[in-house]
Amino acid sequence: MSASQQLVIKASNLWYSHDATDIMAGVSFEVHGGEVFGVMGMSGAGKTTLLRLLMGLVQPDAGEVFVDGESIVGLSETQLNRIRAKMGMCFQYSALFDSMTVAENLAFGLRRRNKLPEEELRRKIAEHLEIVGMHGTEEMMPSELSGGMKKRVGIARALILNPDIMLYDEPTAGLDPIMASVIDDLIVRLRDEFGMTSVVVTHEVDELLSIADRIMMLYEGQIIACDSPAALQQSENPYVQQFVHGTASGPIEV
Ligand SMILES: Nc1ncnc2c1ncn2[C@@H]1O[C@H](COP(=O)(O)OP(=O)(O)O)[C@@H](O)[C@H]1O
Ligand SMILES: [Mg+2]
Repeated sequence: MSASQQLVIKASNLWYSHDATDIMAGVSFEVHGGEVFGVMGMSGAGKTTLLRLLMGLVQPDAGEVFVDGESIVGLSETQLNRIRAKMGMCFQYSALFDSMTVAENLAFGLRRRNKLPEEELRRKIAEHLEIVGMHGTEEMMPSELSGGMKKRVGIARALILNPDIMLYDEPTAGLDPIMASVIDDLIVRLRDEFGMTSVVVTHEVDELLSIADRIMMLYEGQIIACDSPAALQQSENPYVQQFVHGTASGPIEV
């Protein structure tokens, strides 16, 4: 396993309800340094909410989230911003600024953070576009890009801020299968080449089976399994089997 055993994220007995429904009902898990940690659950299972909890964008009703060993529940916005600086977020919808070029999109966060000489900024932008396979697109506008290209620019925009952890929300939703595999390869390559720690949430189980080191399955606010793809594929738990095989019949009501 390429992952070190360093704990990067730890969620401990998280509870979160919305409109009197428990979305997280005692969820605990750990994400190790350098691993691709997948979170699988059906639509509405609370995957996006979980990412928001990890970033401190919403507060749990009970439980703790630790990032690099530091408890983030109840921190002030200033302290949370310091924690969030460790995390790169790839949103479900690419969320690029439509009125800015690709280069300006990448420069935006950097400019806010520190004053870099223009030359250095340009070099960093080129380097990060190269990493995501978007070399030479600096002057393009988001409207000229395909869905997969936008996604990659969104990833570059997060990476350029040098995060320790990347969080992906349905990174391949709406992409054709070829573009989806380009994004999946990129997530894996960031782990292999840079030791990036990633949390990938999706309802696409096949995607996680092929890229994740471990997969956590969420159902009705609880973790029904958290294991390697190989172990999940061999699991005799009927819930896990239904997720893995994507069948309509089984204990999970669809
Ligand atoms: N801020 C919110 N406003 C409205 N509904 C919310 C909010 N947060 C969570 N929910 C509800 O919580 C459930 C889980 O949502 P979400 O985390 O988006 O699930 P997923 O990303 O797995 O599809 C849904 O039923 C959703 O309607
Ligand atoms: Mg979601």
